[in-house]
Amino acid sequence: VCIGDVHAERGRDTERELQEMGLECVFVSCDVTSEKSLFEVSQTLDERWGGVDVVVNNAGVAHAGTFDATDLEDWQPVIDINLLGVVRGCKVFLPTFKRQGHGHFVNMASVAGLLSPPNMSIYNVTKTGVVSLSETLREELRPHNVFVTVVCPAFVKTNLAESMRGPDPKAGARLEAILDAASLTAEGVANEIFVAIEKGQFWVVPGRQTRYIWYLKRWLPLPAFSLAVRLLKRLFR
Ligand SMILES: NC(=O)c1ccc[n+]([C@@H]2O[C@H](COP(=O)([O-])OP(=O)(O)OC[C@H]3O[C@@H](n4cnc5c(N)ncnc54)[C@H](O)[C@@H]3O)[C@@H](O)[C@H]2O)c1
Repeated sequence: VCIGDVHAERGRDTERELQEMGLECVFVSCDVTSEKSLFEVSQTLDERWGGVDVVVNNAGVAHAGTFDATDLEDWQPVIDINLLGVVRGCKVFLPTFKRQGHGHFVNMASVAGLLSPPNMSIYNVTKTGVVSLSETLREELRPHNVFVTVVCPAFVKTNLAESMRGPDPKAGARLEAILDAASLTAEGVANEIFVAIEKGQFWVVPGRQTRYIWYLKRWLPLPAFSLAVRLLKRLFR
């Protein structure tokens, strides 16, 4: 396992944890806003292990705030990480996958990319973009024996709230409280991804409740869907 992250301390902690479990693991400092940085990771993997089987495009930051309160300048940095980071990851590692004759991209989107909830326009747009890119590549890369899985969780207990950006200074604390109460864990989502890779499954939408809401959106006309979500919210309050 190779872990790439801008946060070196946490990356090295995870590297140590995995090594203690007896796995061959390496941490590399990597910034997904830089194509060069990702290219260096791909070179490291080529030299060390002769390639890579699965690339997980996971890096992301949170953003919340009304559309009105967000400035145009707020869009670019989040798009650069959440959406273009995934684009770069696919672009840089695709030649390796083609050379090997196999590979699997796991792209981390969010249920926000399926449902577009209010007051999250920037985050929603980046995650919808990741879903769209993944759907496009799924068809485009299949002839090369390269597979794609897109992951769309709701709230998962992680450190995501620390990265919160946006006009409301209290949004980070609010997200942290929601994530602390979340029933999904990173390990649980990782297990679902692992099974999806083995089965060649495209969608990973963890949590039955989240899946039902997503199905409702796909099957109902928009006004009926909005009404259903309002009723569901009342039910689960
Ligand atoms: N936690 C949730 O509720 C949730 C729900 C749906 C989707 N997601 C998505 O899951 C992914 C993982 O997030 P998480 O919840 O584990 O949060 P996290 O903050 O624990 O992990 C995100 C990681 O991305 C790294 N990162 C940020 N910018 C980077 C950059 N430019 N280059 C390299 N690494 C960078 C951070 O250092 C951090 O380690 C994100 O894409 C997030 O949007 C999270």
